[in-house]
Amino acid sequence: MKKISLAKTPTPLQFYNYFESNNIYIKRDDLTDLALGGNKVRKLEYFLADAMKKKADCIVTYGSPQSNHCRLTAAAASKQGLKTVLILSKSGISHFNGNYFLFDLFDVDIVWVETDNVPKKIEETLSSLKNKGYKPYFIQGGGHGNLGTHAYKVAFDEIIEQQNEKSIEFDYIFHASGTGTTQAGLVAGKTIRKSEIKIVGISVARNSNRGKEVIYESLKEYFNEFGYSVDTSENQIIFDDSYIGNEYAHIYPKIIDTIKVVAKNSGILLDPVYTGKAFHGMLSYIDLNKIKNSNILFIHTGGTPLLFNYANKFKEE
Ligand SMILES: Cc1ncc(COP(=O)(O)O)c(C=O)c1O
Repeated sequence: MKKISLAKTPTPLQFYNYFESNNIYIKRDDLTDLALGGNKVRKLEYFLADAMKKKADCIVTYGSPQSNHCRLTAAAASKQGLKTVLILSKSGISHFNGNYFLFDLFDVDIVWVETDNVPKKIEETLSSLKNKGYKPYFIQGGGHGNLGTHAYKVAFDEIIEQQNEKSIEFDYIFHASGTGTTQAGLVAGKTIRKSEIKIVGISVARNSNRGKEVIYESLKEYFNEFGYSVDTSENQIIFDDSYIGNEYAHIYPKIIDTIKVVAKNSGILLDPVYTGKAFHGMLSYIDLNKIKNSNILFIHTGGTPLLFNYANKFKEE
């Protein structure tokens, strides 16, 4: 599968700390180099290669006004000399900093949409661009789709190589799960290799049924398109929705405390919407499930600009 080079890989794998007799490591996918990094960079390597192959001159994608995916799509497209159009949902989220500020640096065009009108607005935007003579290439929100899944199948292979080099055997991989594409890729990698590593997605928004269903569909589509005939079942997917709080981007005190502790211990910055929530979820999951004497890998999926969006939450606590 062709990709363009945007990420600096392999990303570092660092020992973080001991927790209840477990060794916790962090894989630094926040250091994927492009525009403050994150998991989307790996996915964009494949999407942009596909767009270039199809001779697209304009990338269109969708997200919230504080979307990491939109920031990184704009950065990647701009680097390739392509125009970017971001379709942004009018949400209640305050957005005049963090990622929204960074969109401007990449000269994006913004199209606003009500959240209940997204598919129609995407269609209209694509046809309007075509009418103006552009050749647009659409990437689903969050970099969802088989190419995104493939990027994290390859990341799983990278983790296996790193654990072999360092003579560690991971028992668990934890990460923040949103559209479920990252998780689908990791589970695809695990399934293909018949690995015993348990992959635990900590949901940032979706309930467990919906999350699992989407990941399972992504897995089946991926195996189908990439020609793998492997057994897969929805039961092998661990998608824990216990740490969402009330909704997406609900930031509660335990998340803030976790971010502070991790920053103090390691100098590593987590964000409150994704990685801070997931790290808190991971520690609680370890505790609740009485996991002991295990090697545990947390994938830091990025999201650093979101930390600045929520500076006021840290002052209030
Ligand atoms: C920082 C960060 N972590 C995790 C995720 C979740 O990734 P996925 O959508 O592949 O589940 C996202 C998605 O927006 C993200 O921005």
